Amino acid sequence: MRFWFASTPILLLSAILIIANWIAQPQSTLRPKVFVIGLSKTGTTSIGDALALLGYKRLGWKDIRSRHLVHTWANGDYGALVDQTRFYDAFEDLPWPRMFREMAELYPDSRFILSLRRDEQVWLESMRRHVGRGAWQPYACFYGAMEVEGNEATVLSAYRNHTTDVREFFADKLERYAEMNIDDGDQNWEILCSIAECPQGRIPAVPFPKSNTATHWNHNVLVDLLHWMWSWTITRLEEWSAASYYQDGWQSTNALLSACWSVIDVVEQACSELYFKLVVRQQAPLEVR
Ligand SMILES: *[C@@H]1O[C@H](CO)[C@@H](O)[C@H](O)[C@H]1NC(C)=O
Repeated sequence: MRFWFASTPILLLSAILIIANWIAQPQSTLRPKVFVIGLSKTGTTSIGDALALLGYKRLGWKDIRSRHLVHTWANGDYGALVDQTRFYDAFEDLPWPRMFREMAELYPDSRFILSLRRDEQVWLESMRRHVGRGAWQPYACFYGAMEVEGNEATVLSAYRNHTTDVREFFADKLERYAEMNIDDGDQNWEILCSIAECPQGRIPAVPFPKSNTATHWNHNVLVDLLHWMWSWTITRLEEWSAASYYQDGWQSTNALLSACWSVIDVVEQACSELYFKLVVRQQAPLEVR
């Protein structure tokens, strides 16, 4: 009797995980993948929103799951990240901008969009305001410094280097590549539709999204509240485990941590799949021009 009592939570958790795992099977209807490889504050969220409007399955829960992906990536472990690519057909935000070489090779039919700002000083200012609030270890991998404040020249050179690297790499693969200026508004539909699949190959009759936040997820108070609570928990877990990611080196003490994140991944994956199945499927087809 006591044995059953003690094992109930474990059985319950196992049951939840089995169900979650069952829900979280990748769909077979994915299209050639689109990777948005602009750095932060270049409008990647807006382009992601546009792809979502086109019915692309975009990597969701981005503020949460991606953090774990970024940390493992920063430590040279691409496994978790590559695993994720099986489930989606649109990707944006860190660390995808730095994975274009690997993804271009892994998915020969995938497409890439480099998002840029028209004026690099405007970009820097935007970075200072939105990203410069605090230091975050992985920023060093993308911007050459953990924080923007006081490192403006380095951060700007990282932006220029990224643009150069991407252009060089795609110079002989132009059919898979486009650049976008988020300040250009509706013009971006034309560029997007040259790279991604638009309904009947035509341009949608809606304004090009311009979002600073993932409005994508704001559906109702309950979902928002759950999302917020989940974010809070994951952020605390991330804070607690951040030292381990970097100081102990990913290999040594991190087996347990890795197992925890795997459980979280399955749960998040199941939530994402449910979201796509229940909410996204019901959306009316997009009107075209
Ligand atoms: C950008 O490239 C230059 C030249 O290769 C290099 O000296 C500089 O350190 C790079 N900047 C960053 C932030 O990596």
